[in-house]
Amino acid sequence: MHLRYRKDPKDSVHHPVFARFYARMSVAADAKGGIAAHRAELLTGLSGRVVEIGAGNGLNFAHYPAAVSEVVALEPERGLRQLAVGAAMRAGVSVDVRPGTAEALPVEDAGFDAAVASLVLCTVRDVPKALAEIRRVLRPGG
Ligand SMILES: C[S@@+](CC[C@H](N)C(=O)[O-])C[C@H]1O[C@@H](n2cnc3c(N)ncnc32)[C@H](O)[C@@H]1O
Repeated sequence: MHLRYRKDPKDSVHHPVFARFYARMSVAADAKGGIAAHRAELLTGLSGRVVEIGAGNGLNFAHYPAAVSEVVALEPERGLRQLAVGAAMRAGVSVDVRPGTAEALPVEDAGFDAAVASLVLCTVRDVPKALAEIRRVLRPGG
């Protein structure tokens, strides 16, 4: 799957049709398809500061353990980002939703204990660059 890109960095991924489809499909898949259990398993054991890449509509947010002090959630698609803001308000941990892409994470070096990317890397055009960015923003041992 390849999403269209725009020059405005705040809307660098623009795909309103996909956003509307994913917003509905993902909620159903979580509830009826068992995906929520995979999210919980993925995030178990995390603590400290977390950067989440391609957060979509924020379905991971409800599964972060209380030991997570802050999540910086990056989502480049405007419609999904707006939904993520709503999910952040309902989350049990502090979630700061921002625009941003995997290839140029708008966060500081070595600032995070963990990076989360669920169902995302298959949509990223430059995976080596995204992985290099994840390495840059993780603290040693993160
Ligand atoms: C299949 S959705 C997964 C959303 C969410 N992570 C989840 O687990 O439900 C893929 C997400 O990746 C985002 N995305 C697409 N290209 C991206 C990029 N270059 N960097 C970061 N996120 C990207 C999309 O906007 C979309 O929110």
